Amino acid sequence: ISETKPTMSSTVTPVVEETDGPLFPATLISPEVIALLPTDYTIRPLRRSDYKRGYLDVLRVLTTVGEISEDMWNQRYDWIASRNDEYYMLVVCDGADRVVGTGSLIVERKFIHTLGLVGHIEDIAVEQGQQGKKLGLRIIQALDYVAAQVGCYKSILDCSEVNEGFYIKCGFKRAGLEMAHYY
Ligand code: ACO
Repeated sequence: ISETKPTMSSTVTPVVEETDGPLFPATLISPEVIALLPTDYTIRPLRRSDYKRGYLDVLRVLTTVGEISEDMWNQRYDWIASRNDEYYMLVVCDGADRVVGTGSLIVERKFIHTLGLVGHIEDIAVEQGQQGKKLGLRIIQALDYVAAQVGCYKSILDCSEVNEGFYIKCGFKRAGLEMAHYY
């Protein structure tokens, strides 16, 4: 009687997940905001492939972005995506599927206020030639909707004096004072 040798399991190659799905569920995008966008424009969660649609160029209207290669982008995107209920980054695309607006909500989990959740609104930017079409307002409304849906009790942001009027139009009010240490 010959003994059957246990079969060697084949070498397992780690598979790097390279999906291009939405960063967060699309159901968190306010249907009301979608309906109010100009014709042919869309608002949706960030995707890995938005590197190729000009996401970083839109951010350049806001501040210095630096030279970010696709590999660098992918690494940071994957890290953000692994924090799957903390980062809510969305984009507005025009009819040609180019990113023309961006906005982020980062959800902080606290001990205070009975384990309260606070939304931090960051990196709101609308491409120069697309400003004045209410896209900035729609981005804020969409982020507000996400914040309320995920259970934040408030959202806060820092901005310069020149943008105060914009945020007032979006329903925010001045509260406190921003201070910073730069490293
Ligand atoms: N001051 C006063 N009112 C403003 C300003 C401003 N700087 N910008 C827009 N508004 C008003 C508009 O006139 C409009 O008013 P209306 O409803 O009476 O017509 C209303 O605010 C909504 O304006 P939108 O058309 O939605 O604004 P837009 O799409 O141009 O986006 C934004 C505004 C995001 C500030 C854009 O100008 C931009 O990208 N600027 C450069 C980057 C920047 O500074 N981003 C904000 C950084 S702060 C942060 O990220 C938390």
